Amino acid sequence: MVNTIYLDNSATTKPLKEVMQAFMVVNEQYYANPASIHAMGVEANDLLIRAREQVADILQTEAKNVLFTSGGTESNNAAIFGIARSNTHIGKHILTTEIEHPSVLETMKQLEKEGFDVEYLRVDRRGVISLDELRTKIRKETILVSIMHVNNEMGAIQPIKEAAKMIHEMSRAAFHVDAVQSFGKLAISFKEEGPDIISISGHKIHGFKGSGVLAFRKPIRWQPFALGGGQEFGMRSGTVAVPQAVALAKAARLAVETMNERSNKYRQWHDEIRTQLESYGEAVHVLSTPQGAAHIVSFSVCDLKGEVIINAMQKRGVIVSTSSACSSKQTKTSHVVEALHLDEHYKKGVIRLSFGAHNTIEDIENFKQVLAEVMLELKGEKK
Ligand SMILES: Cc1ncc(COP(=O)(O)O)c(C=O)c1O
Repeated sequence: MVNTIYLDNSATTKPLKEVMQAFMVVNEQYYANPASIHAMGVEANDLLIRAREQVADILQTEAKNVLFTSGGTESNNAAIFGIARSNTHIGKHILTTEIEHPSVLETMKQLEKEGFDVEYLRVDRRGVISLDELRTKIRKETILVSIMHVNNEMGAIQPIKEAAKMIHEMSRAAFHVDAVQSFGKLAISFKEEGPDIISISGHKIHGFKGSGVLAFRKPIRWQPFALGGGQEFGMRSGTVAVPQAVALAKAARLAVETMNERSNKYRQWHDEIRTQLESYGEAVHVLSTPQGAAHIVSFSVCDLKGEVIINAMQKRGVIVSTSSACSSKQTKTSHVVEALHLDEHYKKGVIRLSFGAHNTIEDIENFKQVLAEVMLELKGEKK
């Protein structure tokens, strides 16, 4: 669509030109298999080594602890299955939260079927876990704690540092953080007290769909997810997609370099839109909080279905989504909205707008204008 204002960057982002350029060059000139021992293979492998080192530097770990994957879903699955299935000699107890992405929750459900004891931490109305509840739930036999950094549906930020300290003091559990929505927007690394495992997705940071990272603070007892030719230090078999790896490293570097500048802009836009939304009084409930991630604003209009608002905005060239792309085609209320215990009137459709590197102040001004028009048009329309 031409002339659209794309405000669905938490679903996916448009790749940056520099990232596409890097991808093209590697595909055209360095397409050899990086595991091949001939000169072309060595060249491709050199690029892979450099990409891995770049990501390792950003995350403050060693290159041997960085694996390239096919995205956030694979990284989350691999982290959780890998830790759980190889640490049963310590215990079978796992902690996570009730608002994780389905790539975590569905993996946990599978582990429950396999006899693991999974407990789900609750969140308050701001979407944040209680550290007191975490403290009471950690046991000697807890082997894994998986907590997302930023929630994809409404932007709540979890207290990762404090949780890491507590988990490490009280147990031998590995701490996995799904940083898919936070990487490049908030500081996240293995520096000081932090997670043991981090998942990242390329397409949320202006890289490509089908690319991701699973990174470890240090080598850990872990069972590989994909078996085969022993690539990626034997931890993730399959011919490594060097162009994706190089593109992801480039996207990651650009995201981190521009993080502060973008965050300041996003915060200002977030605050302005919040002020406008709050001016509609009881007609609108804003789920995102001022303490949450700046790039996500989610809200709900009293007794109105999400699709109605999405369509009304789309007619005017503005693309927003229901709270999450993966549940947006489903009709049932999302698990995140349920966990927030919203009033029934605000459960029918949560709208999420999410900013990205290509958005401009003009986009936001236009969005605010469209929001005003749509609110006027839909006034009194209840479904
Ligand atoms: C918080 C979170 N985790 C994981 C994923 C899955 O990432 P991918 O689409 O790369 O598989 C997403 C995607 O929406 C997400 O928002």
